[in-house]
Amino acid sequence: MVKSKAEARGLSMKEKPVIYLDNAATSWPKPPGVLEAMERTMREAAANPGRGSHEMAVKASRVLFEGRKALSRLFRIANPNDIAFMLNTTHALNQAIQGLLEPGDHVVTTAMEHNSVRRPLEALRRKLGIKITYLPVGADGVLNPNDVKKAILPETKLVAVTHSSNLLGTITPVGDIGNVTRMAGIPLLVDAAQSAGVLEIDVEGMNIDLLAFPGHKGLMGPQGTGGLYIRPELELEPLMHGGTGSRSESPEQPSTRPDRYEAGTPNTTGIAGLTAGVKFVLGETVGRIHEKELQLTRELMAGLKEIPGLRILGPGPEQERTAIVAFTLEGIDPSETAFLLDRQYGIAVRSGFHCTPLGHESAGTTETGAVRASPGYFTERSDIVSLIKAVQEIGETLRT
Ligand SMILES: Cc1ncc(COP(=O)(O)O)c(C=O)c1O
Repeated sequence: MVKSKAEARGLSMKEKPVIYLDNAATSWPKPPGVLEAMERTMREAAANPGRGSHEMAVKASRVLFEGRKALSRLFRIANPNDIAFMLNTTHALNQAIQGLLEPGDHVVTTAMEHNSVRRPLEALRRKLGIKITYLPVGADGVLNPNDVKKAILPETKLVAVTHSSNLLGTITPVGDIGNVTRMAGIPLLVDAAQSAGVLEIDVEGMNIDLLAFPGHKGLMGPQGTGGLYIRPELELEPLMHGGTGSRSESPEQPSTRPDRYEAGTPNTTGIAGLTAGVKFVLGETVGRIHEKELQLTRELMAGLKEIPGLRILGPGPEQERTAIVAFTLEGIDPSETAFLLDRQYGIAVRSGFHCTPLGHESAGTTETGAVRASPGYFTERSDIVSLIKAVQEIGETLRT
């Protein structure tokens, strides 16, 4: 039986200290200010934004505009109203994909995509007969921008790429791909689920036309928040139609942004928390956050690679990556490793297929899946040491 550190210290499982290494799913803990901003909004500005002219409704509208302004600074977006708030990345990706594509269109995407890109595309293949090209990537997940160029057809209406793989941590050369798509006059959709807040994103400089991002990961806000940047020249069919508080006399969805893409009452309290998270990121700077996370990731990789039978997926330690380390332990089911890490060591990681079966095909782990550890900005070096030691112990114990 693997020895439990928590138990060794006389702690019950309920009291066990959590070593949280699942930041790629949702970041935790949140920085100072997030909870406070949410509480303040709930107390003082929790009316319906854009739906009334009374003081509290105006305050609520200001909360949303503050959020759009902070996000615009982060992503170098000229007009904050080109950002529509969404529930999460998946919502934003669906708005982009379903709002743009029409029968007969062709899409270029990659074998590294999350199901939140693949499933909406496959649904449109069934419903509208769109065609999809999945560009292969190497086992390290690296995509060659020239392959994008070669795959473009006269009927190509969208190129959709993940900025960073949620399985391998590989970073896609979005700027180079943006040069290709802009030259070809084809919109580029970037899935920034794993990059927003941890990699530099400049929508103008990188020629990004559509940027789908979560609020609850690298931007350090709460769940139920996210957004979509839509280039001003690009018109999307709204995913949802309904009340916006504007042009109420018209049966049509307003053409003005962001109302066009924000039907229904928004998550004002959540957006207040997201704004506080974005301000924290702006204060710390994306560069410093990435540097710290990369350092922790490299230490983790260096320690894990010494463990017999352990294979780390994705780019080598010398290459840039986001803070994602997926691995397999020969002969041991990843779900068992993750279970033991949680129950015996109080370490939270994720196992399985991480919503990217195509990514597992590229990595050669379709049969097994993998364990994924994802440090965050608040991870301590001691957490990394604990994980390495625990994985080593699990490997030794389960193989004997
Ligand atoms: C690359 C990628 N795309 C999309 C998503 C979906 O994000 P959300 O949970 O915010 O909808 C994730 C979630 O982990 C992801 O890693």
